[in-house]
Amino acid sequence: MSTTLITGIGELTTNVDPGSDDPCGTVLDAAVLIEGERIAWVGPAADAPRADDVIDAAGRAMIPGFVDSHSHLVFGGDRSAEFEARMAGQRYAAGGIRSTVAATRSASDAELRARLRGFVDEMLAQGTTTVEIKSGYGLTVADEERAVRLAAEVTSEVTFLGAHVVPAEYAENADDYVDLVCGPMLAACAPHARWIDVFCETGAFTVAQSRRILDAGVARGLRPRLHASQLGPGEGVRLAVELGAASVDHGTYLTDADVAALAASDTVLTLLPGVEFSTRQPYPDARRLIDAGVTVAIACDTNPGSSFTSSMPFCIAIAVRDMGLTPGEAVHAATAGGARALRRDDIGIIAPGARADLVLLRAPSRVHLAYRPGVPLVQRVWKDGAAVR
Ligand code: NIG
Ligand code: FE
Repeated sequence: MSTTLITGIGELTTNVDPGSDDPCGTVLDAAVLIEGERIAWVGPAADAPRADDVIDAAGRAMIPGFVDSHSHLVFGGDRSAEFEARMAGQRYAAGGIRSTVAATRSASDAELRARLRGFVDEMLAQGTTTVEIKSGYGLTVADEERAVRLAAEVTSEVTFLGAHVVPAEYAENADDYVDLVCGPMLAACAPHARWIDVFCETGAFTVAQSRRILDAGVARGLRPRLHASQLGPGEGVRLAVELGAASVDHGTYLTDADVAALAASDTVLTLLPGVEFSTRQPYPDARRLIDAGVTVAIACDTNPGSSFTSSMPFCIAIAVRDMGLTPGEAVHAATAGGARALRRDDIGIIAPGARADLVLLRAPSRVHLAYRPGVPLVQRVWKDGAAVR
């Protein structure tokens, strides 16, 4: 198997043995050896082994590829008019999802596939080497099955989100829709998915409905995650913790009881800074979470309604500027945090045996990701050991 040595790395974020002073397990003047799809060696450049090819990073910073653990990339249409109205003062509401449902149902497989692949490429160019993708804009058995099937073409982290919102045709009998989700829709989607998710919120699904749906998914071999406390406080976070969900996402309105429950659990709280940015909601206090001992991740939540960014660097910049994370904590949350939210130990770190998913920054340190917001700092990207950018 051929080997490539990347040497002259000024600042390497490994996320291995992170301490409280350095959440990133930093190695200065480092080198990384890639063998096939995996990392074979990591250490000081002066001690590096020989390799078939050598790349000089010229003092730049390297981080693990971003792990974006929350996205909705299978959809048709556009809601820029809704965003424009929101910037003029209108509130975000869960019901907007239904307009994307109509546009998605009327799109062809080819259109959805082309768009989906375009987003994955766009993300790769910004350093995201793993992305979780949810269904949720089909809301019929056939349209949800199509969404998870298309998503499975581009990622192994597929989430069935038939319970995104109650579709218009079931508006008067939401529990019948929950029956459909737990029955034939789940049966059709489970073979393509690893995860099950519910939007547990006023205007979407109640705690009791969410519990039923997640239990049904678990019985089919899917693992639970949850959207909760996005639009107001509720019991969703505690439900996620009780069910042992890998992650509960949003957490814009967390109570003290939520924070205590998260801190005593294995459930990750995934922050979605792009949502507060583009809905003008208050940024959650991520400092309070970290100080309480909660594991946090950062994801983009790329979707046409609440957050149409695919840029992890942008979300990192917000998390530092407005949520109280240090740059190191934010980079850790966007890499190792995302991996934890997907229960993966082969990504989000730079260590022997891990997948060689690497990002070389056009900058001397990871701090620049927040310090230079909006600037394209991702210079090179390796996925599974192959240079893709
Ligand atoms: O994660 N919160 C629910 N789902 C998406 C938004 C979907 C939409 O507005 O189209 C989210 O923010
Ligand atoms: Fe979402």
